[in-house]
Amino acid sequence: MSEDKIIHMDMGASVSSSGGATVCLGIESSCDETSAAIVDSNKNILAHIIYSQIPEHQKYGGVVPELAARAHILAIDEVIRQTLARANMNINDIDVIAATAGPGLIGGVLIGWMSATGIAQSTGKPLVAVNHLEGHALVPRLAAATADNTCSAVSVEFPYLLMLASGGHCQILLVRGVGKYDLIGQTLDDSAGEAFDKVSKMLGLGYPGGPIVDKRAALGNPRAFDFPRPLTDKPGCDFSFSGIKTAARTFLSKHAEPYNDEFINDFCASFQSAVVDCIINRLSHAMRSNQVISANPKTLVVAGGVAKNSAIRSAMEKLAREHNMVFAAPPMSLCTDNGAMIAWAGLENYQIGNIVREPVAPRPRWPLTEL
Ligand code: KG4
Ligand code: ZN
Repeated sequence: MSEDKIIHMDMGASVSSSGGATVCLGIESSCDETSAAIVDSNKNILAHIIYSQIPEHQKYGGVVPELAARAHILAIDEVIRQTLARANMNINDIDVIAATAGPGLIGGVLIGWMSATGIAQSTGKPLVAVNHLEGHALVPRLAAATADNTCSAVSVEFPYLLMLASGGHCQILLVRGVGKYDLIGQTLDDSAGEAFDKVSKMLGLGYPGGPIVDKRAALGNPRAFDFPRPLTDKPGCDFSFSGIKTAARTFLSKHAEPYNDEFINDFCASFQSAVVDCIINRLSHAMRSNQVISANPKTLVVAGGVAKNSAIRSAMEKLAREHNMVFAAPPMSLCTDNGAMIAWAGLENYQIGNIVREPVAPRPRWPLTEL
């Protein structure tokens, strides 16, 4: 495992757990990050290491599951060992072990899950099987900020309305509590993250596409190309992104390569603006639905890798304001896959007694509505 791919997301051992707090070691390995974190019930991230495999997958233009699984095997022990070392702790200082048990690429999930199971069995510590999506959904309760990070102490209480947008999922959920999710809307085809990744690939910009398209979009004209806004003329809260992707392909087939910078920037800005409009349209329908009105959530939250998108964050903040709601998003470092969100979801589940009592089989698919 090369040191240059390890990202330390914490402040080193400068933060320590105060007496009485429950301390959880969380492990994430469901996609292309091998990550571990130690988080306590007072919302301190005592150590957090993310070992990113992105450079290994970049030349293939996306995650190769077999390569990911092998990279997780090679990295996981060292990531856990270094996480404990950075927190100045040994395994006896940990109260709870948590790991992603799905959904995700099953090879990777198995590696993190077996590591966690081994540690729990050899130490007798309680073990929590965390749903990766619940990690994304609950992490704003560990740390949340406003769209531009100017206020970093937004408190997220249940119930809240959640836009969960990642590489594999795109859902609007009413979060009523730990393990209590009502599905309000979801994509009928691609996820938002997938659309960003595919458009980036079409333009030859690289993987992962979201951050690259986001950056280029900031430099372009969002009205340069007329992308469709699928389903926005229909009632309901479901999404469809495949039409936007097809429109992108059709536009590009009519323009000969090489694309110059101005073209790429305008293209990214126009595509991103269509995605933002779809998200805002569907969320405003959700806010007017009887289900959401009767639950009366006070906070509108975005989570998942796509929550890093600056245009989506600011458009959602504006929407929240218009509906007298508070907007919250995880800090950038906790949007994409990370161990801290798994440790936090592990703690929240542990606190309601949701620990593993019999063998758990990791699941490649595991909807939040089946917790
Ligand atoms: O949550 P995540 O790390 O992994 C999954 O659970 O899928 O999300 C990764 C996704 C990728 O599709 C990536 O392109 C997208 O999040 N993403 C972004 C941005 N940063 C990451 N999408 C749009 N704008 C961004 N700034
Ligand atoms: Zn994720």
